[in-house]
Amino acid sequence: MTASVVIYRGADEALSLHGVAAKKGRQPKFEDLNLIKKPVFITDDHQILFIGSEDEDWSSVLKNKEAHQVTLSGGLLLPGFVEAHTHLVHGGDRKDEFEMRIAGKSYEEIAQAGGGIASTLKKTREATQSELLESSQKSLDFFKSQGVVCCEVKSGYGLNLEDEIKILKVIERLEGTHCVSTFLGLHSLPSEFTTFDEYTNFVCTEVLPKVQAETLCRRADIFVDRGYFELAHLKQLSNTIKKMGWDLTLHGDQLSAQGASLWGAQNGAKSVDHAVHLSDEELKKIAKSEAVIMALPGADFYLDLAYPRVRELIDHGGKVALATDFNPGSSPTQNIDFIGLLARLKMKMSLAEVLAAYTYNAASALGLENKYGSLEVGKSANAIHFEAGLTDLFYDGSQKKLQHLGELK
Ligand code: NIG
Ligand code: FE
Repeated sequence: MTASVVIYRGADEALSLHGVAAKKGRQPKFEDLNLIKKPVFITDDHQILFIGSEDEDWSSVLKNKEAHQVTLSGGLLLPGFVEAHTHLVHGGDRKDEFEMRIAGKSYEEIAQAGGGIASTLKKTREATQSELLESSQKSLDFFKSQGVVCCEVKSGYGLNLEDEIKILKVIERLEGTHCVSTFLGLHSLPSEFTTFDEYTNFVCTEVLPKVQAETLCRRADIFVDRGYFELAHLKQLSNTIKKMGWDLTLHGDQLSAQGASLWGAQNGAKSVDHAVHLSDEELKKIAKSEAVIMALPGADFYLDLAYPRVRELIDHGGKVALATDFNPGSSPTQNIDFIGLLARLKMKMSLAEVLAAYTYNAASALGLENKYGSLEVGKSANAIHFEAGLTDLFYDGSQKKLQHLGELK
């Protein structure tokens, strides 16, 4: 069977971001977005075959191929967004706790009183796999409707073998958008255990080998912060998964300084997420490292806490990505436009930096920058077409009309 080739024409503009990719996502400027006027975009079922302007000669791409044309009416072509940090699979919600926070209780106080992650844990354990699949599929579809082509999804509300596997199986069954699953067994201390040491040992020796045997994922995450896991647990997890050939990512230094982000950045973590409480020295070293710094301004906004020092991180050469951190507690929003708006307003990111953060840099955090994040020949055929123009994006938090082109159309 010959692959079906599609020629997309008629858009006003395209941004290929190949300059962002060439710089590996460091200090992206407007010119690195590579604006193409009157673009021609050609794909087969899987790959990008051509991206360029009407003036270029693209006939050779079509040699011996049957192609059909799709005419777009104006608008903007972009690489699809990568949403690289979500807790999308969870039972219930925590709307009642939000009211407690408005009345003055902090995230940590609510957690100490038995709310927080523990309350979602209970509802997630009670839910069946098909109930979780139904609610998670709706959330994933909502991300897709905003232009997401690849979505990271964490476990972490099961915190025992059976329920963590149940969540990972839900992630495996999600459809319509590429999903990357991450094991977050070290999210919080379940009530069956009395110490973090004891629970970390259990996860590293009992749970992880079984998750690996089921081939349900190949990345692990941990929440290192005041009242949660410590640097020693991060090191233990890192040692364990290194032997398994898995990737490491981490939630670190969100509520307090723990040195987790720097340790992760210097020890091969693909991304260090939150990374709010950093010393000047740590900030500079993390910026120079290969790790992606995953800013999650939705959580900072909802918890009314400090935002990460993204301006300085970028200026020192750091690769910064953005994500919603969608979860029922610290960041219940799935609104990508709003996250980009927060990034611009509160962290002084330029529009070019926000676009790079939600495409190439987010893909890098997942180790998928050769597939997603820019429109380049040979990369996965996943693009989005906005009816809006570039300056309409990440400005008012509203959902923009768009369609997927290529694989996910
Ligand atoms: O990224 N920090 C840890 N995990 C989530 C919150 C999870 C929850 O509150 O349910 C976060 O903010
Ligand atoms: Fe998170």
